[in-house]
Amino acid sequence: MTRLYGAITGWGAYVPPHIVTNHDLEATLDTSDEWIVQRTGIRQRHIAGADETTSTMAIKASLAALAQANLPATELDLILVATSSPDYFTPPASSLVQAALTPHHIPAMTIVTGCTGFVYALVTAYQFIQAGVYRNILVVGVELLSRFLDWRDRSTCVLFGDAAGAVVVQATEQPCGLQGYDLGSDGANCQHIIMPAGGSARPFGPDVLDERSHYIRMNGREVFKFATRIFAPASERALRMAGKCIDDIDWVIPHQANLRIIQAAAKDMGVPLERFIVNIDRYANTSAASIPLALAENLANGRIKPTDTLLLLSFGAGLTWAAAVVQMQPQLHSAQSLSEKSRRVGEGNVFVYP
Ligand code: UT7
Repeated sequence: MTRLYGAITGWGAYVPPHIVTNHDLEATLDTSDEWIVQRTGIRQRHIAGADETTSTMAIKASLAALAQANLPATELDLILVATSSPDYFTPPASSLVQAALTPHHIPAMTIVTGCTGFVYALVTAYQFIQAGVYRNILVVGVELLSRFLDWRDRSTCVLFGDAAGAVVVQATEQPCGLQGYDLGSDGANCQHIIMPAGGSARPFGPDVLDERSHYIRMNGREVFKFATRIFAPASERALRMAGKCIDDIDWVIPHQANLRIIQAAAKDMGVPLERFIVNIDRYANTSAASIPLALAENLANGRIKPTDTLLLLSFGAGLTWAAAVVQMQPQLHSAQSLSEKSRRVGEGNVFVYP
């Protein structure tokens, strides 16, 4: 049987137009631009408008990715949406995206692993591609966390932003795609990022509202320690599965949670910071959207080429981690690299890369 690979043929991202700077936050919170920049590297974040939801943002990013792949949504075989901030607890955000994109009753699944969701979803997509089950898969990472933050809690609300990113993975016989990965979960430490109420453990009620325990709570220091501990070994395991070493990696795309975490990872892994993609200053932590957003933005500006070997590296609620070694497109495309042709077409804040 012919071996099947998955090429990433389309990518797109959406960020809401409204920007909130650190200085804006100083007006309502006991915080400062200086503290936020020094401790996190964040300068601003995009916040969704009242008329937007998680699925409307996901659909915009998906349409951009499908347009670039030149694939009608009706040709999709599977939709995977990674999010921890869905429109509803139920129905799943993935079904809302499916209904908006295609009349066909294709499978659609929401993956909830916090900030690692996009990498988990991408690895899942590749299992279906490599097994020969589905040929065209849409993978989305999207978050509208601003609606789940306690805007009185300076230790969490300054950290996050809203965004969506999407890729199209298509079966091909040309070697490319996912080469190695390492996924994991340390559930014993799940309390460090938690929305304490609103689920079956503590259903919503007036007391929950009073305590504001339906919002995200985080033990930042513990999460910081976890992230800096996990990045190097997870990368090593993913590289080993790929049969590669760190010098084979053109770009590391880390989850954008804190610049200091990225700097520590670079040091631990012995990789110059210049080979890490960093955009946390402009978007803050967009959780499951952070890696596909960074990917789409840097493909558009030509920094990343579709034939580059990438190391995607993420951690988040769970506590989970996910590392993946990916070459988006086969080398034979390099002579006519998509990135050379790409230009950014502004359509509102939808990035489209034709
Ligand atoms: O995507 C996964 C989700 N989460 C993360 O990745 C978060 C990982 N953790 C972090 O990024 C960092 O731990 C934070 C940025 C959350 C916090 O930085 P830190 O250097 O670990 O600060 P800290 O929590 O140890 O707090 C230091 C001080 C405290 O004051 P005291 O107790 O020393 O007087 C905080 O109350 O900073 C204070 N503080 C703030 N001050 C001004 C906490 N938040 C703020 C704030 N503005 N926004």
